[in-house]
Amino acid sequence: MSKNVVLVTGAAGGIGRSICERLVADGYSVAATDINAEGLKDLEASLGGSLKAYPADQTDLAKVEALVAQAEKDLGPIFGLVNVTGWTHATRFETETADYWDKVIAINFTSLLYVTQPILKSMIARKAGRMVFIASDAGKVGTATEAVYAGAKGAVIAFAKSIARENARHSINVNCVSPGPTETPLFAEEMKDNPQIVERMLKAIPFRRAAKPSDQAAVVSFLLSDDASYLTGQALSVSGGLTMI
Ligand SMILES: NC(=O)c1ccc[n+]([C@@H]2O[C@H](COP(=O)([O-])OP(=O)(O)OC[C@H]3O[C@@H](n4cnc5c(N)ncnc54)[C@H](O)[C@@H]3O)[C@@H](O)[C@H]2O)c1
Repeated sequence: MSKNVVLVTGAAGGIGRSICERLVADGYSVAATDINAEGLKDLEASLGGSLKAYPADQTDLAKVEALVAQAEKDLGPIFGLVNVTGWTHATRFETETADYWDKVIAINFTSLLYVTQPILKSMIARKAGRMVFIASDAGKVGTATEAVYAGAKGAVIAFAKSIARENARHSINVNCVSPGPTETPLFAEEMKDNPQIVERMLKAIPFRRAAKPSDQAAVVSFLLSDDASYLTGQALSVSGGLTMI
């Protein structure tokens, strides 16, 4: 199987865009999806013929199945899935509503199930594939003001480990990249809402800086490479040493 087609979700965001740029530079052909159609159009314009955009709301199962089928028709079998889609908002659990919980869980976890299943089925049929899910260190150690997001990211990590166990026999590797604070629009919003917490966190990072999106993209690139072929079920923290688990 050709190893050059990768589907990236959340592709129009800070980390997603950097991953697309890195994968195109590595020589992959990228199918990029995001709910932000304008952002995808911009990405497609800047990355030329190596990236094709498939705008969709990833919390809509029928739309996700249709975009996966269309991407495989256009570009060929998907070798790699990089799931980046996510969303958070700083708030305290006791003030939240059930609608808010549903939204956080849908964007950070259920949407991952929707995109993973159709791609996994075709990877199993071809007995090859790589999956990299962008989780968060919140899913390992928790974050004040992000309780439900942290729970959903913990679910992402446990799900990755479980399907890694189920599918190693098909030569499919499943790992997570678990970013610490990374300079993106999502992080800028956090900074605005909760400047003291973010300042304290930055001081606690041994490297004394937030990650750049390209720091996350480099590890995704490694996990898709042949060098990572014996690695599965791991959640690598890319956090400048903020968390060491
Ligand atoms: N930036 C950080 O500090 C940080 C830290 C830890 C983890 N993360 C994780 O990294 C990932 C990327 O974060 P980012 O900082 O680039 O954020 P971002 O907001 O820039 O990117 C997230 C992308 O997901 C897309 N998206 C949201 N809901 C969607 C939906 N329903 N359907 C399709 N697309 C949807 C958004 O349009 C956006 O382009 C997320 O999973 C986030 O939880 C980020």
